[in-house]
Amino acid sequence: MSTCPIDSRAIRPIRFVAGQCHMLDQRLLPAEEVWHTYATYQEIARAISTMVVRGAPAIGVAAAIGAWFGARDIETESSWEFYQEFEKVCAVLVATRPTAVNLSWALERMKHFAQSNLDRSILELKIGLEFEALAITQEDEKANQKLGQHGEPLLADGARVLTHCNAGALATAGYGTALGVIRAAVEAGKKISVIADETRPILQGARLTAWELQKDNIPVTLICDNMAGYLMSLGEVDCVIVGADRIAANGDVANKIGTYTVAVLAKEHNIPFYVAAPVSTIDLSLDAGSQIPIEERDGREITHLKDLQLAPEGISVRNPAFDITPHCLVTAIITEHGIVNGDYLAGLKRIVKQH
Ligand code: MRU
Repeated sequence: MSTCPIDSRAIRPIRFVAGQCHMLDQRLLPAEEVWHTYATYQEIARAISTMVVRGAPAIGVAAAIGAWFGARDIETESSWEFYQEFEKVCAVLVATRPTAVNLSWALERMKHFAQSNLDRSILELKIGLEFEALAITQEDEKANQKLGQHGEPLLADGARVLTHCNAGALATAGYGTALGVIRAAVEAGKKISVIADETRPILQGARLTAWELQKDNIPVTLICDNMAGYLMSLGEVDCVIVGADRIAANGDVANKIGTYTVAVLAKEHNIPFYVAAPVSTIDLSLDAGSQIPIEERDGREITHLKDLQLAPEGISVRNPAFDITPHCLVTAIITEHGIVNGDYLAGLKRIVKQH
């Protein structure tokens, strides 16, 4: 097998340069590649809530950078007052999206750094927080590369891999989680092809997964969400890999709406269903998936496609943005510290402890 180096690391949706944050507007992809520049925590909070940036690890990284911007702008000489103000900044950022735990994980880490360094000068605290935000960004990309290496042996040469939503470089600091495993397999010289669910209602699969895989020359075929079962029944899917927004202590997985449906279909067809996520996505404080808060989004995402009306005026709509896949449907969880399967309760605890 020859190796096939690809420049996948080049896709980085968040760039942190000279005190400013540049973000690729994921709402406009693939038609337009527009970058926005932000310098305040309020702007970053808005970028997260309006989904300029999205994907669990990426919103964690964005929140950490936002927290640093907020810290930088606090004007006080009192470390006690500084911390009170910093907590307010973090409260605004954490309220932007509820499901992905990476957001609160990153902000807790920033708060922990501030709290445990309150004996330093305010200037030192601000510099330290900048470094912490940078570390969160760099560690995320490294974790994805590492989980890719752990996961790629699960993909056979020639595998046809179905994925849902976008768990790629765009959803992280770089490289991706589910797509990170695929990239690692391609880099190891395997011939991998991807089937991307379009992922209604806001089409992260069609717009983002298809865009970034095409950019990396990884063969990708786009399907509507309701075609996955038929392709499985034809024997055209060898395995499924998805990302996660939060994994409870028992291994239940919150991910983009429709993931549960794919997992049930995979079980029915005896197809392995893998979840790839960094340890920052595991939330041991929750026993089971039923405790994970599920974001409900504006019904207009379903009734309209931009300005095009798709459903009758006034129709009642449900729009949960995520669902829960019970651990019994998950073949394995791939992390940067290794693979967990079987006894998720013990395995996830062990993996998180190594963090
Ligand atoms: O609403 P989104 O686009 O932020 O949802 C993203 C997902 O559900 C991803 O699959 C998940 O965050 C994993 S990204 C590595």
